[in-house]
Amino acid sequence: MDLLFLSFLFFLLVSSSSAAVVSYDGRAITIDGEHRILLSGSIHYPRSTVEMWPDLIKKSKEGGLDVIDTYVFWNIHEPRRRQYDFTGNNDLIRFLKTIQDQGLYVVLRIGPYVCAEWNYGGFPVWLHNLPGIEFRTVNDVFMDEMKNFTTLIVDMVKQENLFASQGGPVIIAQIENEYGNVMSPYGDAGKAYIEWCANMAVSQNIGVPWIMCQQSDAPQPMINTCNGWYCDQFTPNNPNSPKMWTENWTGWFSWGGKDPLRTVEDLAYAVARFFQNGGTFQNYYMYHGGTNFGRTAGGPYIITSYDYDAPIDEFGNLKQPKWGHLKELHAVLHSIEKPLTEGNITNIDLGNSLAATIFATPEVSSCFLANNNKSSDATVTFQGNTFKVPAWSVSILPDCKTEAYNTAKVNTQTSVMVNKPNQSEDQPASLNWKWRPEKIDDTVHHGKGQMSARGLLDQKAAASDESDYLWYMLRVNLKKKDPIWCENMTIRVNGSGHILHTFVNGEHVGSQWAKYGVFNFVFEKNTKFKPGKNQIALLSATVGYQNYGPMFDTIRSGVVGSVEIIGRIGDETITKDLSGHKWSYKVGLHGYDHKLFEPDSALASKWKSGDLPTNKMVTWYKTTFKAPLGSDPVVVDLLGLGKGEAWVNGRSIGRYWPSYIAEDGCSTDACDYRGPYDNNKCVFNCGNPTQRWYHVPRSFLEDDENTLVLFEEFGGNPFLVNFRTTVVGTVCANAYEKSTLNISCQGRPISAIKFASFGAAEGTCGSFEKGVCEGSKDAVSILEEFCVGAECCSIEVTEDIFGKTNCDSSVTKRLAVEAVC
Ligand code: GAL
Repeated sequence: MDLLFLSFLFFLLVSSSSAAVVSYDGRAITIDGEHRILLSGSIHYPRSTVEMWPDLIKKSKEGGLDVIDTYVFWNIHEPRRRQYDFTGNNDLIRFLKTIQDQGLYVVLRIGPYVCAEWNYGGFPVWLHNLPGIEFRTVNDVFMDEMKNFTTLIVDMVKQENLFASQGGPVIIAQIENEYGNVMSPYGDAGKAYIEWCANMAVSQNIGVPWIMCQQSDAPQPMINTCNGWYCDQFTPNNPNSPKMWTENWTGWFSWGGKDPLRTVEDLAYAVARFFQNGGTFQNYYMYHGGTNFGRTAGGPYIITSYDYDAPIDEFGNLKQPKWGHLKELHAVLHSIEKPLTEGNITNIDLGNSLAATIFATPEVSSCFLANNNKSSDATVTFQGNTFKVPAWSVSILPDCKTEAYNTAKVNTQTSVMVNKPNQSEDQPASLNWKWRPEKIDDTVHHGKGQMSARGLLDQKAAASDESDYLWYMLRVNLKKKDPIWCENMTIRVNGSGHILHTFVNGEHVGSQWAKYGVFNFVFEKNTKFKPGKNQIALLSATVGYQNYGPMFDTIRSGVVGSVEIIGRIGDETITKDLSGHKWSYKVGLHGYDHKLFEPDSALASKWKSGDLPTNKMVTWYKTTFKAPLGSDPVVVDLLGLGKGEAWVNGRSIGRYWPSYIAEDGCSTDACDYRGPYDNNKCVFNCGNPTQRWYHVPRSFLEDDENTLVLFEEFGGNPFLVNFRTTVVGTVCANAYEKSTLNISCQGRPISAIKFASFGAAEGTCGSFEKGVCEGSKDAVSILEEFCVGAECCSIEVTEDIFGKTNCDSSVTKRLAVEAVC
């Protein structure tokens, strides 16, 4: 045998021993011959840290997931054209291997347009500045770049044998993202573009299926998939495509408004309905949302926290009861995987919005009972047995006889998180601050720029993505004999910045920022001009470039114009339009150029100690602090500050804006899980800072001394800034009779039982009260004995343990507990 043949045999051996065949039909996804239902969750690698990945993935696995789904973020990997970055938290391959190490699969959503509330939807901003480019349509410049990046990612993944066809974890890949939602303005070119995307994807030969989400005309063999709050009514465009739900939104993101929450009862109901109706793959978007570190938040105005009300919170803690109630659902669904994917399906309409589905194989039948009423609970008699099915819920009966799970009956504990003060040794009660003004003389007095151009430039063109800040500067000559000259002169600027600070002759004339949703604004202010030369300096700041919408990439940012001086003499208004003049531009700020955020920046000696200014715009603040002891997640409280960016030991923890107050319109009633959910339904936090606490990943911290630097743009007071750890404060549960109550303080001991009653207790966590009936034994002392001192405890909820009750038969008995950690 010659060498070539030998190596071919070796290749066959290596690849065939570990390669998995992923195939599908209208009923299921099949991996190596096994028909699967797949439970998946989105975690975006750059929204956490390398150090957090193993724990996040472990918690995902424990939560019953089979798959981790991630987008690939083009702009962080190719920040400048053909200069690549896959280091640190951008190490995609390491993330995929971390998932593989724990035996989970991956859905790789390459995009490379991703939306994701990520800056510019994941597109690098330099792309915008390539001559002749048009995004997301048949345009050679765009298609070449898109193909180049897609191929780069595919090749990297292939190189490491990470596709399932090579023995790796990646079972599915995605091209484009929700193009179908925005496609119509692109006309026929849009259709041709989607054809091109499909062909380009297929030509990558990855050996596993490709999906396109929200693309009802997805060309074969692309599988079109559904995104939304509910996808049970979705049908793919080909009978051979499995029914896949790529984004089940577990909450919603925040853009500086109220905090949207989604109840676990509704989320579980949506998932159960999906599988009852023939679903085969379901992905939680997000399972762990994480943090928009640095300037990665999309726009406009997406906040730094991307917690998303996901089952694992921003800091990596379990969000209970969300995580636990879904874990139980996953276990039940997995236990009936065979009937779900292979059984004969019978749907029975029981009337009054009640629906039963039987999945029958020769060995076993499994059933779903859905009550789709928004308010009336039902007692259903089904195959000779009676079941109580609350409104807007689904019961799952693995043997069609006994209820193993109901989506509205939550036995999992509720964990109430608290932020505990920094308990490190010798941490002073308040931090010692140094400060420096941002050096603006060169711009506001002298108009010194790096380049000049006639007219007002789009901020993307002038600043690319190097900074949030761009100075627009112009020197104007005014004479007393000019027709415009008068006492009552104003400067008027049309901005879409999103923030504008106006200076004339070195003086700050005023600032304005757009209200969410209306990003074009007009700034106008009375201004003292002088005869002769006047220096106008406009500082524009963006808060994340637009990430969604048809042709969103072309939306202009910055001072879009016009810029005018206006004179009002009597009834007459005279306008001098400066827009077409030759403006000078400077990208960024002096302090950024000199890396003031780095603990040992070259200008380290220039920080001042005394006379700490407050409410002074464009000011840098610096302090040192001791890391909180232990390993609990760390947050910093930035209440009192205006708007800016924060760095810990030189690493950006994101933009901050605690002075942005969430507007009115919150729900005053407790959140009712029943009825269709959308992001306006259960909203909280009105009247409070949209984000006050900012995540400081443990891996950013040194054991000893740490540096915090703030760049305060609007003016604020750092006096209240402090570091805390975020941990479980109290836990509550209200477990049903015959279930097992589990309570845990997540790694810390349970210190006391504040409330316990077996019977018909009323109220919710923090306000439980005894009800009309109760078990004869003292529930508090039973729980104290079982639980206090332990990190977690488990107890059967039965009359044997808690004593006979005098409850009448209409009462559904439960054990209500509140424990202190
Ligand atoms: C979808 C999009 C995601 C994300 C989500 C909202 O439309 O595909 O990337 O933006 O909306 O969080």
